[in-house]
Amino acid sequence: MTSAEKDNYADVKTKTGKEWFYTDVVKKHFFNPKNLFKTEKEAENYKADGVGIVGSPACGDMMKMWIKVDPKTERIKDCKWQTFGCASAIASTSMLSVMITEKGGMKLDKALQIKPQDIVKRLVDLPPRKFHCSVLGDKALREAINVYFEKSGQKDRVVRQGAKIIDKQLKITDKDIEEAVLEGATTFEAVQKKTKIGVNDKSCIPEAEQLIRFYREKYFGPD
Ligand code: FES
Repeated sequence: MTSAEKDNYADVKTKTGKEWFYTDVVKKHFFNPKNLFKTEKEAENYKADGVGIVGSPACGDMMKMWIKVDPKTERIKDCKWQTFGCASAIASTSMLSVMITEKGGMKLDKALQIKPQDIVKRLVDLPPRKFHCSVLGDKALREAINVYFEKSGQKDRVVRQGAKIIDKQLKITDKDIEEAVLEGATTFEAVQKKTKIGVNDKSCIPEAEQLIRFYREKYFGPD
């Protein structure tokens, strides 16, 4: 964050007492998104090496990402995207597309290590309630890379996470817990209020608490 950006952001917060204003960087990417497909024709004519489509269980929005990869260097040469998501999803995916294509393109292994908080950091900040929107682009990119691995005969490098049932009575999975944390429920009590996890199946509580800690750290950094 430059000092001018810091001043601007702090100013908005202190003057209004509210934290739901977008930073200048978010607004810049929302009003002028980078690497966005603007027409169907552009998307049809694009020769991608990998395409990822994901939906957000948190809000029902969708994200599609196309990537071109240099097979020799494993760098992402180009990337395009489209979404039905909100301003936060547009701004964060625009920023993600810049991050993976700048400086000659990011290597695939490094791109797979990008976390939503890295995108949020480059955006200066994002309101916590909108954090799950930044996860959409990140997941679409992972899927596009998986598809590239499949298409280029590298199936052994594909990583896809399946859902695991944690609460056996209510069939609540680790993905449900992840979504609840992304929605801002960062304690066991808050996740239980949202999902009813552990209300009947008390044996799942220790594992649920461990997962909440894991996702809280993954998305919001160490306590
Ligand atoms: S992407 Fe659905 S609310 Fe932001």
